[in-house]
Amino acid sequence: MARLKLGVLISGRGSNLQALIDAAADPAYPATIALVLSNKADAAGLQRAASAGIPTAVVDHRAHPGDKRAFEEAMDAELRRAGVELVCLAGFMRLLSDWFVERWRDRLINIHPSLLPSFKGLDTHARALAAGVRLHGCTVHVVRPAMDEGPIVVQAAVPVLPGDDEHTLAERVLAAEHRIYPLAVRLFADGRARVEGERVVIDGAAADAGSALVNPAR
Ligand code: GRF
Repeated sequence: MARLKLGVLISGRGSNLQALIDAAADPAYPATIALVLSNKADAAGLQRAASAGIPTAVVDHRAHPGDKRAFEEAMDAELRRAGVELVCLAGFMRLLSDWFVERWRDRLINIHPSLLPSFKGLDTHARALAAGVRLHGCTVHVVRPAMDEGPIVVQAAVPVLPGDDEHTLAERVLAAEHRIYPLAVRLFADGRARVEGERVVIDGAAADAGSALVNPAR
């Protein structure tokens, strides 16, 4: 069966991109990365893509001052030229307009470093620590016009441990991100995940219903 063509949008480090590159290196993985697109020419993730032989493009938002639509039309054109079927935001640091989000409706997903709907926005780890939550985590969701909102595809929870600072917590969450982004893409690529209204339904979803993550455990 043809593999689902991904477009991955980045602005920086690209460790989630790397997780997708690693997953797609397996010929049995049902998706392939057709294009990595960055709004920053110096994004480290572009080098990761180049090393893996994946086509890259840069659409610099600063080339379109005050004209978000032109910036997004340029990105949209690159994605369509590459035959992209599913767009994955992976540390892409520009807010997308309703126009772009609607154009890719239900074919645009994002990874966010919190258990949504808690802690939308930036500095999620510091805010989770300040709130004293015992469990934190990450979410892959379908993008809707409002920031960090939209139907949830996969979540992973991690414990907040005594002595954590935002860096140790971020590292624990990031390891979980690298597990769930390839999983979420696989669910779409296999046709097992579909958006029904504002929820995602997953055929044959398997979870161990007895395995609650309890923190502290005793
Ligand atoms: C990740 O924490 C992701 O959840 C958030 O931005 C960060 C990107 O990291 N949206 P990377 O560029 O994938 O390493």
